[in-house]
Amino acid sequence: MNRVHVPVLAGELIELTAPAAGETVVDCTFGAGGHARLIADRIGSSGTLVCIDRDPAAEEHFEELAREVACETRFLRMDYAEGLDLLRDERLSADVVYLDLGISSMQVDARERGFSYSYDAPLDMRMDPGQQLDAREIVNTWDERQLAQLFRRLGEDPNANRIAREIVRRRDRAPIQTTGELVAAIEGALPAAVRRSFGGGSPAKRVFQAIRIAVNSELDSLDRALPLAWELLRENGRFAAISFHSLEDRRVKRFLAERARGCICPPDFPVCVCGRVVPTAGEIADNPRAKSGRLRSARKLREAA
Ligand SMILES: C[S@@+](CC[C@H](N)C(=O)[O-])C[C@H]1O[C@@H](n2cnc3c(N)ncnc32)[C@H](O)[C@@H]1O
Repeated sequence: MNRVHVPVLAGELIELTAPAAGETVVDCTFGAGGHARLIADRIGSSGTLVCIDRDPAAEEHFEELAREVACETRFLRMDYAEGLDLLRDERLSADVVYLDLGISSMQVDARERGFSYSYDAPLDMRMDPGQQLDAREIVNTWDERQLAQLFRRLGEDPNANRIAREIVRRRDRAPIQTTGELVAAIEGALPAAVRRSFGGGSPAKRVFQAIRIAVNSELDSLDRALPLAWELLRENGRFAAISFHSLEDRRVKRFLAERARGCICPPDFPVCVCGRVVPTAGEIADNPRAKSGRLRSARKLREAA
């Protein structure tokens, strides 16, 4: 049975973005709407909640939420960078824009979608099942150098070269069709001592992360979305992003630091870009996925001149 996605850092997100009655909020990564539901309660019947997600499964959760909340709601099933672009063209002004990056528990638990190294399933990993590129194509058509680079860059995997070599060796005999075959190739690439060093963890974790990020162009979307999200915010608008690995967090951090550089507020003014918030120990215990969550938020004090 699929778990319902437990929203990560939800209390902190609400506290830092402080959604108020009548405000307009954009949730760029709706998922199962855990964060959105809390926001909807805050903005009330005079508020507007725009939700974006490229996964059709998220749209089903949205329809349920839209029936139950009092605020005006709208769903855009598309990449959030495209969604934000569309909202900018419509001249929407938002009080809050936030992203909760990565994948949801429902996506991981839907075995047939191939996101998880724990279940054997077709190699897929597409958040938007309508897109063409999937994990099978990457694993079977990228050359050894491209694969090694991918595992190094997006998985930060120290065994990238060995794993790429083994994948190419195996697929030369027969295409790698399933997550199980990919896990076997990864494990087969590593000497026993290296395999043992993972203890209870899986040596496939980093490679799966890298392939998923590439299939869904996750970093490109984030790079395109950050300036658009900022542009949508009206004066005093709040931005927040929850990320789950350093590649995302670094981008958000750099983006906010650049916004802060232009800041001309007096030194005793309340901070315009706040630091990092990490999950509380209780939350990590309740929700293992929360462990790597990092929340960064910022307030837009004024439009750039
Ligand atoms: C971590 S989940 C969000 C969970 C949500 N905050 C909740 O409380 O249920 C991330 C969601 O963002 C979506 N997503 C990730 N990247 C996206 C992108 N570039 N464009 C649109 N949706 C995206 C995924 O499909 C997934 O449903």
